[in-house]
Amino acid sequence: MVRILLQILKWLGFALLTVVVGLSWYVYRTWDRVWDAPLPELHASSDPAVIARGQHLAYGPAHCAECHTASAEVFERYVETGVRPALSGGYAFPAAPLGVVHSANLTPDPETGIGRYSDGQIARMLRYSVKPNGRASIRPMMPYGDMSDEDVVAILSFLRAQPPVRNVVSNAEWTLVGKVIKSLAPTFKPRTDAEIHPPKVSPPQQITRERGEYIVRSLGNCSGCHSPLDQLTFVVNGPEFSGGMPIEPRGIPNVDHTLWFQPPNLTPRAGSALNRFPDRETFVARFQKGGRKYPASPMPWNCYDHMTAEDIGAIYEFLHSLPPAGQPSPQEPTVKHE
Ligand code: HEC
Ligand code: HEC
Repeated sequence: MVRILLQILKWLGFALLTVVVGLSWYVYRTWDRVWDAPLPELHASSDPAVIARGQHLAYGPAHCAECHTASAEVFERYVETGVRPALSGGYAFPAAPLGVVHSANLTPDPETGIGRYSDGQIARMLRYSVKPNGRASIRPMMPYGDMSDEDVVAILSFLRAQPPVRNVVSNAEWTLVGKVIKSLAPTFKPRTDAEIHPPKVSPPQQITRERGEYIVRSLGNCSGCHSPLDQLTFVVNGPEFSGGMPIEPRGIPNVDHTLWFQPPNLTPRAGSALNRFPDRETFVARFQKGGRKYPASPMPWNCYDHMTAEDIGAIYEFLHSLPPAGQPSPQEPTVKHE
């Protein structure tokens, strides 16, 4: 009897060891692998109207400026002065327990910025979440796969037209947990052709549900914060837009870092943040004139407030077309985090 038990234990141990060794080998081979994604045939233009449109997107609805400045403090100066900061990167995003990543230098510097990359490499990053060096980026941070060809070209054109700034940005550092998640979680893999459906031109700038959906899903990443997500893999694990997970406050001085922010419910159910707006005009005014109410709120209000009244109105229409879901939102969005 004891001998049979020992025999079973021996085989179980052996099986477990095989699984552990196999998994380690898989993670080691794949966590930072090079991906084979196509380089989109899109090219920067020197037309001033296209460049201006790209600047509007980068500092407005597509909010590249929120992350691609040097730090939260630099972004704060933008909030205070309205003077656009250079997109020279370096902003550190601590993502415990996965590691820390730094935003890239998006100015045309030939050694430290996008001067090193082809238009196709930059467009591929937006479409497929594959970095210029062929490695996978963090998809949930930059979900721009379905941005229209027109808007990708506008952003490319603007990025190329900026004055170059030399700024060496450190590489990302991943912990062991981070490497395992990066290797296994689908949200850390590049998009595939089947998942991408970019329109050639964006829906016209009118107060339509279609235009609103385009801004929310392809530029504004509203879902990334306002939906329930698994905390390790960032997979949406509940009704979309029904309220998100608490986010730490912006890394600026003089704020209480134990007060985290809970992105409220944006579906049209009783007691949701959306339903507290009596009409579209109040919603538009909240974005355009109201701005950020809580200084440390992680929501990039100061990018979105550049949106046109039509675009914000379109967002309102889209959100109202969603199925009501989730729980009522508390009046105060902060939660104590020990
Ligand atoms: C929520 C934060 C965030 C937003 C918003 C964001 N980025 Fe990024 N971006 C990052 C981070 C972080 C990295 C570095 C990723 C890594 O190291 O894996 C990055 C990397 C990149 C890269 C790769 C550069 C390189 O040298 O590898 C490009 C290109 C880029 N971003 C362009 C953009 C553009 C254009 C926008 C706006 C349309 C944008 N990003 C919006 C955080 C952001
Ligand atoms: C980086 C995370 C993040 C992103 C991206 C984000 N939000 Fe928010 N949002 C929050 C948080 C946190 C709050 C609560 C704190 C506050 O009001 O600033 C909030 C609050 C709100 C509110 C309630 C405001 C009020 O006065 O009650 C609305 C409406 C809203 N967001 C809409 C949007 C829309 C639309 C988008 C996309 C265009 C978006 N959010 C993108 C995090 C985010």
